[in-house]
Amino acid sequence: PQEWEDKRLLLTIDGAAHCAEVFVNGTKLAEHRCGYTAFTVELTGYVEIGADNVIAIRLDSRETLNVPPFGFVVDYMTFGGLTREAYLDVREQTYISDVFVQSRFADDKTVSEQTADADLISRIWLDGNVQNQEYVIRQYLIDESQKLMLAEVPLDQLPKNADRASELKCEISDITKWTLDNPKLYTIRTELLSNKKIIDCKEIKFGFRKAEFKSDGFYLNGQKVRIRGLNRHQSYPYVGYAMPESMQKLDADILKKELGCNAARTSHYPQSHHFIDRCDELGLLVFMEFPGWQHIGNDEWKEQAIVNLKEMITQYRNHTSIILWGVRINESSDDDPFYIRTNEVAHALDDSRQTGGVRAHKKSHLFEDVYTYNDFVHDGTNPGCEPKKKVTSDMQKGYLVSEYNGHMYPTKAYDWEEHRVQHALRHANVLNAVAGEADIAGSFGWCMFDYNTHKDFGSGDRICYHGVMDMFRNPKLASLIYACQQEEEPVLELSSTMDIGEHPGCNRGYTYIFSNADSVRMYKNEKFIKEYRSSDSLYKNLKHGPIVIDDFIGQELHNNEEFSTKQADIIKEALNYVALHGYHFPPRIIAIALRCMLVYHMNPNQAVGLYNKYIGDWGGTSTVYRFEAVKDGKVVKTIVKEPMHSLHMEVKTSAQQLVEKNTYDVAELRISMLDDHNNQLYFYNDPIAIETEGPLEVIGPGVVGFQGGMTGFYVRTIGKAGTAKVHLKSGEAEPITITFDIKTSIND
Ligand code: GAL
Repeated sequence: PQEWEDKRLLLTIDGAAHCAEVFVNGTKLAEHRCGYTAFTVELTGYVEIGADNVIAIRLDSRETLNVPPFGFVVDYMTFGGLTREAYLDVREQTYISDVFVQSRFADDKTVSEQTADADLISRIWLDGNVQNQEYVIRQYLIDESQKLMLAEVPLDQLPKNADRASELKCEISDITKWTLDNPKLYTIRTELLSNKKIIDCKEIKFGFRKAEFKSDGFYLNGQKVRIRGLNRHQSYPYVGYAMPESMQKLDADILKKELGCNAARTSHYPQSHHFIDRCDELGLLVFMEFPGWQHIGNDEWKEQAIVNLKEMITQYRNHTSIILWGVRINESSDDDPFYIRTNEVAHALDDSRQTGGVRAHKKSHLFEDVYTYNDFVHDGTNPGCEPKKKVTSDMQKGYLVSEYNGHMYPTKAYDWEEHRVQHALRHANVLNAVAGEADIAGSFGWCMFDYNTHKDFGSGDRICYHGVMDMFRNPKLASLIYACQQEEEPVLELSSTMDIGEHPGCNRGYTYIFSNADSVRMYKNEKFIKEYRSSDSLYKNLKHGPIVIDDFIGQELHNNEEFSTKQADIIKEALNYVALHGYHFPPRIIAIALRCMLVYHMNPNQAVGLYNKYIGDWGGTSTVYRFEAVKDGKVVKTIVKEPMHSLHMEVKTSAQQLVEKNTYDVAELRISMLDDHNNQLYFYNDPIAIETEGPLEVIGPGVVGFQGGMTGFYVRTIGKAGTAKVHLKSGEAEPITITFDIKTSIND
């Protein structure tokens, strides 16, 4: 349009994987060599006002490029394409090109737990003709209840730092702090005025907080917080990296609300701002690292890595949730000159955050502020983690476990029960061990969900089944270990469907209760068996660790059989022992067996009969197990396990109102096949057909298979408003229809 005649036109591309060239009307204006950071191309002077212009972007997505993470193998698919938004900024000749805000609490002593006196320090960069004008900078602090002017100062009165930024410092009293429970965000609005007219402004969502790794752990606003997080790749089924705002945000919601995590590591690159925005809003701590995986390339490659690092920090440093920069190529070897430089660059661009750098080696050279280490020591039989002193020689600096589990125990949603249980327990073992080490700041499990990978990794189908969720973010059993650590939503589940035939030799083995309740009551055929307290868990460092069911009989032998109390006691002990451990008897159980034969004149057939009746659930009518989770004296959740009679689908839809704004919108549908008591049918693997009606499209095929009783798919808007329907048809369950209301607000 003609109104743009005197404007500056800035095109920003948020994600172009992996090397991009930008042309305007055939003239090449820019090149960018990282698929994980944004870049801006100034189009001013190259576009013709009042005419059609062609912006062309040419992408090279080959993995042979000499840029991080390429050069050797990489354990994740590095999908090509334009994967995030692109937008055009129309600015005045002089404009605010960047603002970096930081908070410093006036006093280390907190004013109260919730509030503090703080300095807001802003660095402001302008682009254009800054010399010859009388510019004024004005700044506001805004939230729902106030718009407080913090400053109105002539630009030339502000001191300039070495990086040519004008520095503004404002004292604010009684500011509400950003915490994990109350992640209060303010808007910091910075305006540029010329002749009393606002010619540009920049708004930043910002929370006041102090984050610090010390030798003995991580502190948020002076309070010790144990980091409990998961690693996240940014990939999705069918579309690779390219998912819009709603889906990016959903992952943060799942991490915080469904998995009870307080942190995420953006392995192994910077991820969508939408995801990080949501972490800011939810109070989810973020460890972000620059792109790379194990391999360090030549000088040209390293120069590119430094560019990537600078872009990551300058583009993400206003996110309150980010507490640590990863400035080493994930799991690379020592390279002192390179890592001295990455640390210097990071500290120069952001003096408010510490650095880490993920390594697979113990006692490697440490130029970072925090030793961040992938501790894969746990193999299911040994301690869950190494003590800090075995990993780093620098006991003065912080120590954080950046990965565990993952490839040590790949697990599919449809694996047999004992495999899935072992997967869950390994996560519990590591969390429990880390929580028992006072000087480990916390840990990030590998990983949030399964992901596509290369031929060298994965299970032969180019999928790493390392997630506590599947690719559609459906929960595997291991996800419950995390879910149990949050208090908001009641959790109650068993590690077993209670089908004895699923176990080798029909031995029940250990059955665990996963719950975040105060206690769980167990009933068998409506007879009370036992109440388990959360303190019964052997995972003493976890507030809600798995609890072993060690009694399947309760008082039933005493009540139903003609035994003396002593006889019933020892028979119960022996039967429960066999239920848990099978037929390898220790001396104590042999002694009980002998006593039963010699003193009570029982024969082995009687023992088998009792086992089948009280443990085995064989023959006769079905055994019904019922469990009640009790919190604050009230039953908050009940589950029932009995052989299935019918099945039905359950659909969790991320949103039924979709809004097309800057991009199309997407909803995720997570589907499970459940029995009549809403238990997941872990071995249901049949397909369902998906059909849409109205302005909505399925992402992916129209028929999807269940995997382990779960599946999922995505639907996207197509530029039109209206009502749309999605019909799901299965061979066995009742069909389901979900209705969507779609709005378009392209100009929002
Ligand atoms: C780590 C690596 C991750 C992933 C993980 C699997 O060594 O950093 O990217 O491959 O192993 O457990």
